[in-house]
Formats: sequence, C-alpha cells, structure tokens
Amino acid sequence: MAFYFMIPLFASIFFIFLFNFLLNLFKSKKSRDLPLPPGTLGWPYIGETFQLYSQNPNVFFASKQKRYGSIFKTHILGCPCVMISSPEAAKFVLVTKSHLFKPTFPASKERMLGKQAIFFSQGQYHAKLRKLVLRAFVPEAVKSFVSNIESIAKDSLQSLEGRLITTFQEMKTYTFNVALLSIFGEDEVKYREDLKRCYYILEKGYNSMPINIPGTLFNKSMKARKELAQILAKIISTRRETKQEYNDLLGSFMGDKEGLTDEQIADNIIGVIFAARDTTASVLTWIIKYLGENPSVLQAVTDEQEAIVKGKEKCGEEQTLSWADTKKMPITSRVIQETLRVASILSFTFREAVADVEYEGYLIPKGWKVLPLFRNIHHSPEIFPDPEKFDPSRFEVVPKPNTFMPFGNGTHSCPGNELAKLEIMVLLHHLTTKYRWSMVGTNSGIQYGPFALPQNGLPIRLIRKS
Ligand code: HEM
Repeated sequence: MAFYFMIPLFASIFFIFLFNFLLNLFKSKKSRDLPLPPGTLGWPYIGETFQLYSQNPNVFFASKQKRYGSIFKTHILGCPCVMISSPEAAKFVLVTKSHLFKPTFPASKERMLGKQAIFFSQGQYHAKLRKLVLRAFVPEAVKSFVSNIESIAKDSLQSLEGRLITTFQEMKTYTFNVALLSIFGEDEVKYREDLKRCYYILEKGYNSMPINIPGTLFNKSMKARKELAQILAKIISTRRETKQEYNDLLGSFMGDKEGLTDEQIADNIIGVIFAARDTTASVLTWIIKYLGENPSVLQAVTDEQEAIVKGKEKCGEEQTLSWADTKKMPITSRVIQETLRVASILSFTFREAVADVEYEGYLIPKGWKVLPLFRNIHHSPEIFPDPEKFDPSRFEVVPKPNTFMPFGNGTHSCPGNELAKLEIMVLLHHLTTKYRWSMVGTNSGIQYGPFALPQNGLPIRLIRKS
C-alpha cells in the first residue's frame, strides 16, 4: 500500500531531474552556440608556442592585442588559451567571477613547491591559509621587522662595497634572507645556511622537465626538497617543545587552532620563499637600473632619504630606521610603483575555466586557460600616457581601479606586498645615502628567467660615498 503513496514522490523527483537535465542541456547548448574569441590556434598541438617563445613574449601579446582587440584566443604549450588585456576583463576573471576560474600551474611546479601550497588551493582550505599568511604580513606584523630588515640590508651592501657584482644575484641573497626572517623570525640566522643550500638546489629544477630519474635536474631538486622538508620538520618540533609564541609566519601556521599538518606547513613555507624572493629581487634590480639611467630621479630619492638622516641628527635620535620613517618616503614610493608598472615583472597570470563561461558575447570553454595580461594593461597608452617612459610623477594621481595590478587582484592577490615594499624602501635608503654605482657593459636588453630582468642580471660596480 505504502508503495502507491510513493509513486507521486518518485514521479516528482523524476520530473525535477528531467527538468534540470534539460535546462543544463539547453544552457550548455546555448553557451556552445556562442563564438570563441577572435584569434588563431596555430598548428595542431604545438599551437603558437614557437611564435611566443622565439621573441620577447610581450611583443607577441602586444601584436595579438593590436590585431584582435582585448580578448583573443591562442594555443600555447599544448593548451588552448584565452588572453585578456582590459581592466574590466581582468576584474571579471580575478575578482567578480573568480569562482569560475581556478589557479593552474605546470604539474612539475606543483610537485616541487608542494601540492598543498596556497597558490594551488581553493575554497575553504585556501581561505584558511590566506588568513594565516595575511596575519604574518599585515602592516601591524611587518612593522616589527623593520630593524632586522635594516641590519640585513646594511650587511648586504657592506659585503658588496667596491666589487663588480651581478645585481640580481646579490638582491636574491638579500630577499632570501628577508623571506627567512619573516618566516622564522630572529631564529632565521640559525637555519640560514642549511636552508639556503637546499633551496638553491631546489630552485634550479623549477623550470626543468619533470623526469624523476637519477642524474636529472628534476631528480636533484626533488631530493633537495625532501631534505628541506626534513629541516623544516626539525624546526617545527623544536618550536613545539619550547611552547613559546612567535609572531612570524611559522608561528601563525603553528598557532592555528584546527592545525595544519607538518607537510602542509612545509609546502607553504617553500611556497612563500618561492613567491617572495625572485619577484622582489627582480624589482630591486629594475629600480637600480632606472635610477642609474635617470639622474634627476635618483637625486630626488637621495634628497628624500638624506632628509630622514638629517632629521634624526637634528633631534639627536639614533640613526636606525623606524616604521614611521618609511611613511616619509613619497618620492621613493612612486619610484617603486613606476618600476612595478614599467617592468611588470609578472607579465600575466594563469587561470583555468571550471565551466563554460560567457564574456562579452564570447564563449570561454571549460578547461581552457585564461591569462589576464597585466603588462598590456600597465602599458596601455589610454591608461598610462607615453607608457614606455619611466616617469614616477604619474603616480602623484592615484590610478583608476583595476588598472594597476602589480600584485594581482582578488582572492589570490599578493599577501606579501607590504613586506616587499618595506624591504625595497629599507635597501634604497642605505643604497642612496651611502653608495653610488655605475652600470657595467650594455644594459639595454631584457631576459626572461621567468621574470623580466635587465640583461645579464645588471652588472654594476658599487662604491661607498666618501
Ligand atoms: C615586488 C614583489 C612581488 C610581486 C611583484 C608579487 C606579485 C604577486 C602576484 C601578481 C600574485 C598573484 C598571482 C595570481 O593571481 O596568480 C602574488 C601572489 C602571492 N605572493 Fe607575491 N609578489 C611579490 C612579493 C611577495 C612577497 C615578499 C611574498 C611573501 C612574503 C609574496 C607572497 C605571495 C603569495 C603567498 C602569493 C599567493 C597568494 C594566493 O594564492 O592566495 N609575494 N604575488
């Protein structure tokens, strides 16, 4: 008898399913009827990979944009892609519809950094990691590191006095040490050499072919990664024994009530070193080049920094920088902003459509890669007139929303931006007040490794002012 009462229930469930199925079919047919963005997919499988990598990638992006407009399709590294270069489209992908576009990286990078690192994660796990990372990098937290960063900057510059140096290499050592400070606090000095030895082997494999057999670069990197994880596990267990509270990134990870596993902590520490080091070092290298090429800007920055030194002399204050001093550097800040714009060291980022998405009457099919082209936006003459000119004064006016994104935008935007700006300002303070430098050789070329860099990492000679 009960069975007869169930019939209408089953029937209604069946009709709901049928209705949903037809609706999805209709929706997917409707979106599939939309045209793909303009552009070409090139040769089967190879696509346009050669065209992209046989020249400066920015020339490829710019010529495509000129031909097809601010949204176009292409095919690189075996993947169909849609590239977008308008502030509105970048906001759509990274902010307003970010749930439709997941972060995506080559599998080899995921294995090396660790698959539980913040970059690859989404949803609740990502939100939790982000909260923990931000806790360690908000201005309130970063403030406490000013004097330690200053010691690292002074020591670095002193060790380079009178020498012919490759700027990028030396800046990488500086930014590595600052990254360790932000992760392990004052303890970093104890672990610096071991971590450096392993990390320097690991990073050599970041862009290698993922072939894990003895002797390959990838294999050596994976071994170094394992050793790095063991060192981190030891540091974690030592901290657990002391039961002290720490205000650094490791302290934030370990203090989480729900707890992260040691593996999750290791993946994210290695990830933060990766995100923090070459990026900031590359920006510092560009700043040193632009200041060298623009004597009037260098003079203005030097005057601003010397005013801070003289202000302290007048009041009989100790000659150490404070957080408040870093707020008295508007010209230096504009130089940093303009460098971030002109150099646009991260020319673009990657996402992948998790569903068919309609944008401005075009279909972005599920599974396609989507690349917001930051550099094209930063070099648009409609947004930044005379875009190739290095002119920090343009930042006297705040840029329009979504037009200036050196640190990305939305849920995956850079949580380390305050630290990056602080360490750049501290180094520039000592560099401009105590040193002069001259560039050696020709410096007009750009190399990609993978960040845009002045040719040969900018060889310079650093001399102490008398
Ligand atoms: C000038 C230097 C830097 C630049 C230009 C930069 C730029 C960026 C950009 C554009 C993104 C977003 C990528 C995307 O949306 O796919 C990002 C993410 C990230 N950055 Fe930075 N970054 C810099 C320095 C740092 C530093 C110093 C740290 C750490 C101390 C850091 C940690 C991170 C992390 C953890 C993420 C991933 C965030 C997430 O997925 O939620 N970055 N960075």
